[in-house]
Amino acid sequence: IADLGGNPLVMDSGSTQAGRGEPIADTARVLGRMTSAVVWRTYHQADLETMAEYSGVPVINALSDDFHPCQILADWLTIKEHKGDLAGLTVAYVGDGANNMGQSYALGAATAGMHLRIGAPEGFHPADAVVDDARAIAAETGGSITLTSDPRVAVADADVVITDTWVSMGQEDEKAKRVTLFGEYSVTSDLMTHAKADAIVMHCLPAYRGLEIEANVIDGPQSVVWDEAENRLHAQKAVLAWLLDR
Ligand code: NVA
Repeated sequence: IADLGGNPLVMDSGSTQAGRGEPIADTARVLGRMTSAVVWRTYHQADLETMAEYSGVPVINALSDDFHPCQILADWLTIKEHKGDLAGLTVAYVGDGANNMGQSYALGAATAGMHLRIGAPEGFHPADAVVDDARAIAAETGGSITLTSDPRVAVADADVVITDTWVSMGQEDEKAKRVTLFGEYSVTSDLMTHAKADAIVMHCLPAYRGLEIEANVIDGPQSVVWDEAENRLHAQKAVLAWLLDR
């Protein structure tokens, strides 16, 4: 925000009345009178939508329990830099397909005309409504969404292999259970032998080395995670500039 010439105002529940229980609609009305845009990382998707409805300014989802669209923009920029055109590429996402990243990859891959394969345990794929929306979009763009519980099937001949933490924000108490549940979905050098030889590996970070991704994979020659991390900066500036220009 500062790079773009704006004045970033950092607020959290501890330093505002929002933490005391002020209705989101009221906070939204006030923020809309004082700011040009709101970038909000929170839990409930519905709260973000209330913020958007009542603030009257652009509201950017900086992560919710359900979606993380800003990360998708940074990821697609990273894939473009390394692979060229997005349409037609095969992307494997392995791990927690039900989290904000799994759901956002479904919608993002469909929009870009990519073939997405999600390798996740039964019960940990994106919500049916999200898969239906993604497939409807894919029907228009030439992309596709495949759900499997076999990580090798997901990764077979993929151009891009992606994972994310098995323990998303707010799930810290479930860590032990989730580590057991997702154990066979780790992106290891062995799993990578099923992808294309020139496949790239991505992770939105922060990573648990040795859980969802092996240290020698994240640190290896196929990993583009530091480009991906840098691209959060460029992609998020582009979103703000685009929205405010409109
Ligand atoms: N699924 C992760 C994404 C972190 C950027 C989480 O919600 O914690």
